[in-house]
Amino acid sequence: MKVFLQTFGCQMNKYDSEIMRSLLSKEGYKFTDDWQEADVILVNTCSVRQHAEERVYSYLGKWGKYKQIKKPNIIIGICGCMAQKEGMNLLDKMPYLNLVCGTYNIPKINEFVRHLLKTGGRRIETSEDYVDFPAPLYEAKENKLSAWIAIMRGCNNYCAYCVVPNVRGREISRPVEEIENEVKELARKGIKEVTLLGQNVNSYNIKYQKSPREIQGISGTKSSESFKDSRGNIKNDFALLLKKINDIEGIERIRFTTSHPKDMSIATIEAVRNLPKVCEHIHLALQSGSDKILKLMNRKYTRTQYQKLIEKIRENVPEVSITTDIMVGFPTETENDFMDTYNLVKEIEFDASYIFKYSTRPGTKAAELKDDVTEETKNERLNKLLSLQKRIAQKKNEKLIGKKVEVLVEKCDTKNSETMCIPELNKFQKCYVGKIRNFKSVSFQSDKDLIGKLVKIKITEVKRGLLYGNRIP
Ligand code: 5AD
Ligand code: SF4
Repeated sequence: MKVFLQTFGCQMNKYDSEIMRSLLSKEGYKFTDDWQEADVILVNTCSVRQHAEERVYSYLGKWGKYKQIKKPNIIIGICGCMAQKEGMNLLDKMPYLNLVCGTYNIPKINEFVRHLLKTGGRRIETSEDYVDFPAPLYEAKENKLSAWIAIMRGCNNYCAYCVVPNVRGREISRPVEEIENEVKELARKGIKEVTLLGQNVNSYNIKYQKSPREIQGISGTKSSESFKDSRGNIKNDFALLLKKINDIEGIERIRFTTSHPKDMSIATIEAVRNLPKVCEHIHLALQSGSDKILKLMNRKYTRTQYQKLIEKIRENVPEVSITTDIMVGFPTETENDFMDTYNLVKEIEFDASYIFKYSTRPGTKAAELKDDVTEETKNERLNKLLSLQKRIAQKKNEKLIGKKVEVLVEKCDTKNSETMCIPELNKFQKCYVGKIRNFKSVSFQSDKDLIGKLVKIKITEVKRGLLYGNRIP
């Protein structure tokens, strides 16, 4: 039996898809990249913006037609956020759909697929009871050096525009020991870099670790184990978790995402500074530079607080790279509000910004406001910020020329071997690509196979937003 699995959305979704892939592989299913060859088509979906949902509907339409005309026995399933959000509506709307599997039901995907292949029936699984998620099976291949690990699930923040708390439920942190064991297992398999995932990793808390069902809705109690920063006054369990993972042999780099400015503590900043394996990269979603919009968004920080936080981070970790998410066109956003964002981006100089146009999500607080910024204005603001960010990134990248950096080599850079580097390449050389600690990619040439190795590179050039360098001893 062959499965085709398509994934939309964030890293958490990609991670969940790896879990699905592992569960199904264990039962003997094979995976195919060609959906026309598949007996089971699964799509792991994202609801964060309307556009993401529209793309899923268009794929489903195509697969549904194929099923009706050519292959009636094929099983089609929709999993993840859209499944959780829409539930029964999906089965009503799409007669060819067999499975609706919500975010908390993914650990049982193998059971659902097995049952549906036997019966050809229809099934909806959108229970919101928390269940443990198994670790994906990482088979260390030469190009598999990095792995994600969810340290928590769900979100309690209710940013006014965001559907995530509705589709992924309340925030629940996984037990420290469970995470440690999973990372140790990854290290044993040859993984060198782990990325800790959560909607708001800074609020990771060991107090939530025991019985997830019991703790739903409970807050305020502190665990006996806590971490104090150098001033001795801030307890931060995320920093403690970083410390524990830093101690695991075999792991060389630790990354984490996503950070919420309201919960980013000194202890975490100090952990980035002091723990040798924790990479100097922080993704800190800004969303807007206007206090009025931040308040309407329910972000719980001001422009000034964000500026101060950036100062603090840079003071402690001078070589840090800071990336962000920004939204344009939130309801009531005036030209002045937008310029507050624009000027803040100009002042802060992020290494990269992911910029989105506001999209109304039914069921959120912001959906009660009129989506009053026109599409044309949203596009103008988006383009203006994109071109500002491009100039900033170029300038920041150029500052790296001449710097010696550590690269974790991921793969052959075939694109560049064929195009940009070829004039200088002799037949024994290839281009390789990997990330430096602050998350930027560097391409370089070598006559040795360096995949999986940490190598030293001197950066020599920036071309079309990419870094190039030479290997140094
Ligand atoms: N419209 C546009 N962008 C959104 N994001 C979240 N919800 C919406 C929405 N309704 C963006 C935010 C978030 C990122 C993952 O997606 O910037 O940080
Ligand atoms: Fe959505 Fe805000 Fe939670 Fe991020 S922190 S997932 S933007 S509600």
